[in-house]
Amino acid sequence: MEKLVIQGGYRLEGRIVASGAKNAALPILIATLLAPGEHRLANVPDLADISSTLSLLGRLGCPSLVAPTLRVDTTRITFCEAPYDIVSRMRASVLALGPLLARHGEAIVSMPGGCAIGTRPIDQHLKGLEALGCRFELTGGNIHGRTDGLVGAEIDLDMPTVGGTENILMAAVLAEGHSVIRNAAREPEIVDLANFLTTLGARISGAGTSEIEVEGVPRLTPASRPYRVMSDRIEVGTYLCAGAVTGGDVTVTQCDPRVMRSVLAKLSDAGATIETTDDSVRLVMEGPLRPFELTTEPHPGFPTDMQAQLCAVAAMAEGTSTINERIFENRFMHAAEMRRMGANITVTGNHATVRGTGKLSSATVMASDLRASAALVISALAADADIPADERGVSQMRHIHHLDRGYDDLVGKLRTLGGHVGRVADELDDLDALRAATEA
Ligand code: EPZ
Repeated sequence: MEKLVIQGGYRLEGRIVASGAKNAALPILIATLLAPGEHRLANVPDLADISSTLSLLGRLGCPSLVAPTLRVDTTRITFCEAPYDIVSRMRASVLALGPLLARHGEAIVSMPGGCAIGTRPIDQHLKGLEALGCRFELTGGNIHGRTDGLVGAEIDLDMPTVGGTENILMAAVLAEGHSVIRNAAREPEIVDLANFLTTLGARISGAGTSEIEVEGVPRLTPASRPYRVMSDRIEVGTYLCAGAVTGGDVTVTQCDPRVMRSVLAKLSDAGATIETTDDSVRLVMEGPLRPFELTTEPHPGFPTDMQAQLCAVAAMAEGTSTINERIFENRFMHAAEMRRMGANITVTGNHATVRGTGKLSSATVMASDLRASAALVISALAADADIPADERGVSQMRHIHHLDRGYDDLVGKLRTLGGHVGRVADELDDLDALRAATEA
């Protein structure tokens, strides 16, 4: 097992390149099931969740190669079950329902349990797929779906679910006739999925709005050129937060500022100076961070996946910030661990009050869900800034497999920006670990 070792108080400065978006690459990889043949994808991030998705495709009979560009061969689907051992480590496997039913007429997916951030039901996924002509049985912990042929339908979602919109969209593209998805999620990753499906021959309009229309087609075929996955707006936002809490000057390139306006606006509220070009964002932090109010909402509102990271920024601001989490029911897992670093966070239901003092202290912390872990990394980078460098402590983080799910080369990128960060064996003690980390 390994742990992260971070010595805080160093100003992050420099340029890094954004990786491809995890939450676009996952549905796009699964969507390759819809079109038999060889698919090529570019800008797919190197993440544990991507490996899990490729394992899932392999189990279904679709082999893949990752270099020099990622290739997936979906010529034959020899199995139609997404097994528990994969679904339990990556709930996005449930997105295989739509494509398998559309292509194969049958799908068995292990019921995704809840996870750290909430129960995360899939009732809307099933409601939409049933409207398209699927029948489901829940037996032995599995969702078993069948269809005699998908027929276009008008579907009104109870809430703008990202995964639900994606599952239904991926089925509707091969359904016979016209479909409409209302109250659809508007996230940029939905647009990226729709763009990918269009390269296969799908006929989609309205992706990115709350009403998506689909004209079903009899078959789809792999695109002639590699599809480049969009950049990861949440990864970009995470590094900008790290720049903000260290009084830094961080530029992220190969990204699209237009898909993260609410995050950039919030960082400006907190006192950061933001400069953008067509494909980069720069954050410069001079002077103290200011407290702010934040409420997470479906896109284009403030993304729930950035809530924990902004909590870390609030802890370093001077004053009281209020944070309302409206998407998931239990997304303040980072609060307890941040308290170990001296943060003053009070959580009541889905509301947090952060009384920022402008300082945090190094500590040993435990990662939990992906974005809570990112908040702890940001906090550790800010810790002990008020202490002379040779007297500073070291923060250590265990269970860092959570981070590997969503951040490609986290240590490499933070070191490029001047962070004193390393990834070392669990058994090393503080100073050996720090020495190993900072000399590595
Ligand atoms: C996607 O999850 C993302 N994951 C999540 O990112 C992200 O936090 C979430 O969208 C919201 O933006 C991927 O794209 C792989 P939802 P998803 O369905 O699709 C409720 C990360 O850190 N709901 O939009 O599971 C649900 O309980 C991850 O990268 C139903 O009630 O999210 C939740 O409260 C974490 N019934 C809300 O809707 C349903 O059928 C939003 O969930 C579906 C959802």
